[in-house]
Amino acid sequence: MRIEELSTMPGRVAGKVAFITGAGRGQGRAHALRLAEEGADIIAVDIAAPVENVPYPMSTPEDLAETARQVEALDRRIVAEVADVRDLGALKAVVDKGVAQLGRLDVISANAGIDITVPWHKVTPEIMRTTIDVNLIGVWNTVMAGVQHLVDGGGGSIILTSSANGLKAGPYQVPYNSSKFGVTALAKSLAMELAKDHVRVNSVHPGGVDTTMAEFALPAFEPMHEDNPALFGMLGAWIPGVMPPREISNAVLFLASDESTWVTGAALAVDGGMSQY
Ligand SMILES: NC(=O)c1ccc[n+]([C@@H]2O[C@H](COP(=O)([O-])OP(=O)(O)OC[C@H]3O[C@@H](n4cnc5c(N)ncnc54)[C@H](O)[C@@H]3O)[C@@H](O)[C@H]2O)c1
Repeated sequence: MRIEELSTMPGRVAGKVAFITGAGRGQGRAHALRLAEEGADIIAVDIAAPVENVPYPMSTPEDLAETARQVEALDRRIVAEVADVRDLGALKAVVDKGVAQLGRLDVISANAGIDITVPWHKVTPEIMRTTIDVNLIGVWNTVMAGVQHLVDGGGGSIILTSSANGLKAGPYQVPYNSSKFGVTALAKSLAMELAKDHVRVNSVHPGGVDTTMAEFALPAFEPMHEDNPALFGMLGAWIPGVMPPREISNAVLFLASDESTWVTGAALAVDGGMSQY
């Protein structure tokens, strides 16, 4: 095949519209760009403001605007709005606005999440509640905000971002592990009931990814490992190096595309082996 032919090939998700949460930066932005590169239009949300009890900053309205700028630079359309995944009504309003402008909805990527890394005795009711609210109920809200459009359109793909910690718990993350195992169960449960409507539901399980979340979480582990070296080996991947967000986006792209038409209820680890032992 000649290079000129490659550039005129239809994209792997050409003509589809994808709703992505947490799209202001990190993996959410990478998913928006990877899907746009392959021909999708995007509906993007992010809280773009601090979340209580989380010890690191969230993205900003400028970050979300930058995601929109980069999607438009790929010649794709985007509807980008500030919304909190804990607010089902707000998510629904953005999705409905996006569908009105872009014409349809095919893909839901529930990516927004937080991670508060602390030992078990420092977990407060507030930390537990905020983590479950954002990471589990927020993911359910994201699905509920868009799934009827997929059913009405004859099918689609829902991709829930869990974690390697949603397959194999990691140390000092009781709230996070609990929320991410919940996301794994949510994907499998929804997959069963929605299959008859040709809506597929899968979870993606990243290992350590080079984003702001990991930047703040990783140093938090170090003093704790001195207290309990038995847990030290649990965080390593078999593949050396640092994983860029685009590696997760490639898995999301596969699950969003028609290349995975018979893949549903699966838990896809993209973690260099971390969860496999
Ligand atoms: N980075 C890692 O090592 C890693 C590993 C496994 C899983 N994950 C998961 O990947 C997903 C993406 O994380 P990331 O690595 O890009 O981190 P990140 O912190 O860079 O990005 C998360 C985004 O979600 C947004 N967000 C947070 N709370 C929100 C809310 N209530 N409503 C709307 N938006 C909200 C933030 O503003 C931010 O833009 C998360 O679900 C995370 O748990 C990350």
